[in-house]
Amino acid sequence: MADKEVITDPKTLETLAPVTTAPIRLHIFVCTGKSCSAVDSAEVKAAFERELLARNMLFGKEKKGKNPKGSVLVTECASVGFCAIGAAVMVYPDGIWYGQVRAADVPELVEEHILNGRVVRRLALLKVPCQGSEELPASSGSDATNWEA
Ligand code: FES
Repeated sequence: MADKEVITDPKTLETLAPVTTAPIRLHIFVCTGKSCSAVDSAEVKAAFERELLARNMLFGKEKKGKNPKGSVLVTECASVGFCAIGAAVMVYPDGIWYGQVRAADVPELVEEHILNGRVVRRLALLKVPCQGSEELPASSGSDATNWEA
């Protein structure tokens, strides 16, 4: 099988994936696995989108009412193991995992964590170290040494 050609031209990349040049500061993952869905994680995700839209912070396509230069990305994810204590919400690069999140909690999470950088301790269950590394693992096959995350 022939190797896939990797696109490296910055303008082409920006056109194909505008997120590559957006000023993303935070990425919020909302689990939409089966158990989290059963406690209405879709409404949790919708609540994040509403709160961030109201502040013009939600990254996304303009034609969908979002901000292409928004600083916060909200996406779904699959199960992370909080199934019995969902809905699970993870905020990166802070590495904070929240459990038992309901839509009613979202305004507080946005005000405290997203806007002011204060973890909402009553819902926070885990902090994953996210210090990263400037070098990719040898297994990545890349010789990049100036990788910044
Ligand atoms: S279904 Fe959400 S953590 Fe498992």
